[in-house]
Amino acid sequence: MQKLLTGLQPSGTLHIGNYFGALKPFVELSREYESMLMVADYHALTSLKKPEELRANIIGVTKDYIAAGIDPQKSVIFKQSEVPEHTELSWIFQCLVTVPFLELSHAYKDKVAKGLEANAGLFAYPMLMAADILLYDTDVVPVGEDQRQHLEYAREAAAKFNNAFGETFKEPKERIMQSIAVVPGTDGKKMSKSYGNTIPLFGTKDEIAKAVMSILTDSNAESPVNVYAIHALFKTKAELSDLYTVNKGKYKNLKEALIEDIETLVRPMREKRDSISDAEAKRVLQEGSALASERAAKKMADVREKIGISL
Ligand code: ADP
Ligand code: TRP
Repeated sequence: MQKLLTGLQPSGTLHIGNYFGALKPFVELSREYESMLMVADYHALTSLKKPEELRANIIGVTKDYIAAGIDPQKSVIFKQSEVPEHTELSWIFQCLVTVPFLELSHAYKDKVAKGLEANAGLFAYPMLMAADILLYDTDVVPVGEDQRQHLEYAREAAAKFNNAFGETFKEPKERIMQSIAVVPGTDGKKMSKSYGNTIPLFGTKDEIAKAVMSILTDSNAESPVNVYAIHALFKTKAELSDLYTVNKGKYKNLKEALIEDIETLVRPMREKRDSISDAEAKRVLQEGSALASERAAKKMADVREKIGISL
């Protein structure tokens, strides 16, 4: 069976863009692959230095995964920092790639341009991500478009290591879902927590309603383009065609219909999320991390042997 792995940083609450862009495709793909889903807490440390917030986010994101349909019996859900082989392998890769090569990272430049501190961890971020992926002989990595270059870095790290020490790592492929690559936000731009244009995935019905009512519409247009773009995630073209014809010009009705459609998807997930205790989320992470550790330990024994540190 081919192997699938992806990671999400526990750096905030999820929105419906995260659900359609990352979680839903993962749930669908995980049926055909041996799959692993990682809480990238050491990656989050590059930007988040609030211990209480990080701790709460780690638990929160684990509940989100399970509530969104990821079955911990079928996919290994684990915490990056619980498997020290990730940081160990990342160091080895850092000793194989050059500073000018890392300086080509768009993500690094974008984050620094947005005002994030240019710390050395942020700079070496792609080598930790390469370690996450390569430790488990991953074949496929489902991610958003913004992560494409990180997969190129992972392949380069694998090739550099294989060249220097002999065939050890598989070169992984990204899987970018084009149809839902960009879920638009309430202002029509990409939905993103950094733009304040999100519809929360696990929000209350009131919070969802507030976000939907704030969707920007052009009062001169026949159809509210931004409402339709989000609605298209929930209903087929044919279903929407009837609804939008009957309610031509009645934006409030259309927004109310969208709120109900979001609620239909979200309600069972929200109820499931509320039923998961912190203790259960911790147990899932513990069990998943123990499994990941076993796999990582085997791979690292080979790596240590090959680079000449095991005596
Ligand atoms: P944000 O842009 O809100 O900070 P993240 O960068 O944490 O989101 O993204 C986590 C995952 O969700 C990534 O795989 C990313 O590609 C996906 N994702 C985020 N926003 C969207 C969106 N608007 N449409 C589709 N996928 C998205
Ligand atoms: N960099 C990814 C993001 O910001 C998160 C991530 C960390 C990841 N390690 C990974 C994704 C390994 C896929 C595979 O979205």
